[in-house]
Amino acid sequence: MGDRKIGFIGAGNMASAIIRGITRQGLFRGDQIMVSAPSQDSRDRAVAGFGVQTTGDNRQAAAFGQILVLAVKPRVLDVIIPEIRTSVAEDALVISIAAGKNLKDLQEAFGRPVRMVRVMPNTPAMVGEGMSALTPNAQVTEDDRAFALKLFGVLGRAELVPETLMNAVTGLSGSSPAYIYMLIEAMADAGVAAGLPRAQAYTFAAQSVLGSAKMVLETGLVPGQLKDQVTSPGGTTIAGLRTLEEGGFRGLVMDGILAAVKKSEEMNG
Ligand SMILES: NC(=O)c1ccc[n+]([C@@H]2O[C@H](COP(=O)([O-])OP(=O)(O)OC[C@H]3O[C@@H](n4cnc5c(N)ncnc54)[C@H](OP(=O)(O)O)[C@@H]3O)[C@@H](O)[C@H]2O)c1
Repeated sequence: MGDRKIGFIGAGNMASAIIRGITRQGLFRGDQIMVSAPSQDSRDRAVAGFGVQTTGDNRQAAAFGQILVLAVKPRVLDVIIPEIRTSVAEDALVISIAAGKNLKDLQEAFGRPVRMVRVMPNTPAMVGEGMSALTPNAQVTEDDRAFALKLFGVLGRAELVPETLMNAVTGLSGSSPAYIYMLIEAMADAGVAAGLPRAQAYTFAAQSVLGSAKMVLETGLVPGQLKDQVTSPGGTTIAGLRTLEEGGFRGLVMDGILAAVKKSEEMNG
């Protein structure tokens, strides 16, 4: 990233994940990064080992670089934008990861045209396997777009979506890690019920989910084809699938995700 500098407002889970990703991948050095948060504790925790600069003054972090990441809770953003808007450079690229904050409202809060990208990441970003959806506003240049995709690409995968699909993304990639953890827990419980030690049951369940996800992403085959490959006639898998179908597994998963999408629409319009 040459000598570009990047500021972060907020030093929580997501800011730490991004800082870890961009420093490990060599996109930015520690001295090209400044982070602000109210408590010394959370600044120290977020940036330990990365050599970044920290401050308790949001305006200092806002003025620091050509790129500014807003990584605070959505309700905090309402307070922060009026505080920092005159400190942000005219030509800065602002990236907001606040769930449910749309580009129009963010733009209005700044009170002037700002190059801005709205991003919906998810928590697996903390281990470099996140899924991020990005929507740039009209002011964003081709370079900004490529940069933002690269930035969130180091945290896993990143794709552009129209802002109208942000609620769908929130329900799918934003919320579904929780459903997958629940699935892994249930799979492991079944393993324990069938005699496996608890710790081993988690490993067998989690690695099976990880491996299956990689098969979908890397083989180019659709899930139905991969399912059929595992399902031999009269075998164990078809017995399991039949029970899941009888219990409405697929419909239930779809309903769960659509309930999250609906909730996101209700909350954010
Ligand atoms: N976690 C997710 O799965 C996820 C997924 C998608 C999007 N997001 C979005 O990412 C954003 C950050 O989420 P997170 O999980 O990283 O939250 P978090 O861990 O709670 O971190 C929030 C950070 O904001 C700081 N903060 C609070 N008030 C502040 C203020 N007035 N000025 C500057 N910093 C302030 C906090 O500092 P102190 O600790 O010092 O108070 C903390 O470092 C949210 O908008 C969320 O919607 C999160």
